[in-house]
Amino acid sequence: MKQLTEQQITQNWTDLRTIINNTFEGERLEKLNKMYDYFEDRMVVAPASGKEHFHNAMVGGYVEHILHVVNNAQELRDLWEKNGATINFTNEELVFAALHHDLGKVGNLEHDYYLPQENDWFVKNRGELFTHNPELQFMTVTDRSCWILGHFEIPMTEWEYIGLRLTDGLYEDGNEKYLKGYNKDFTLKSNIAYILHQADMMATHIEGDQWKRGDKVESEKVQKSVANIKKAVDNEVKEKFNTKSTEAKDIFNELFGEPKK
Ligand SMILES: [Fe+2]
Repeated sequence: MKQLTEQQITQNWTDLRTIINNTFEGERLEKLNKMYDYFEDRMVVAPASGKEHFHNAMVGGYVEHILHVVNNAQELRDLWEKNGATINFTNEELVFAALHHDLGKVGNLEHDYYLPQENDWFVKNRGELFTHNPELQFMTVTDRSCWILGHFEIPMTEWEYIGLRLTDGLYEDGNEKYLKGYNKDFTLKSNIAYILHQADMMATHIEGDQWKRGDKVESEKVQKSVANIKKAVDNEVKEKFNTKSTEAKDIFNELFGEPKK
């Protein structure tokens, strides 16, 4: 089972914020930073999936997966271009779509999307390390991604929407109309969606390979730390202390050091 150390989790978060600050500018950067500040306590520890045999079902797995997809997307874009593909989108558009294709996995404004599975039977027999939060209204991850971006009034270009919307390719039934169009006028007018789908699939399978090989770093402290952070941001604690950030940040700082902005 793959796990990340506190140092890796902290470094990944720093890397994510650095990519954002280096890629975007102006009002959109301000709004993005506002959104990432809002979700920091939860996003930094979020898993990328719930089951251990899927991908990155571990504390910090979400951010690591996003970093993989951003990197893969840029390398694949270069490979497509070298082989003659038309690249009619900017690096900023590619990175924006890669960064936010799974944003819905952070949950809504109040609740996490994944909760630690507390039933040992599901953990042992089904490898379900995290379970979906029943508090959440059903929404596809992609729909929730768009909804969150809308909430923070973060605009996106048409190519960013197409890329983000279709990253799951034909694994998402709703994408068929975009990807199986037989009318030539309806076929995709940019390769951004194919490149992002490849980048995401590549990241997912490599993360799965790492789990199968048993890439393992001992980090019981991470689990303990996360349990403390989860407790701190729990609604009851929020009410009791009338703030989610103070205690959560105190605990985070104690365990991981000062979080990077
Ligand atoms: Fe993904």
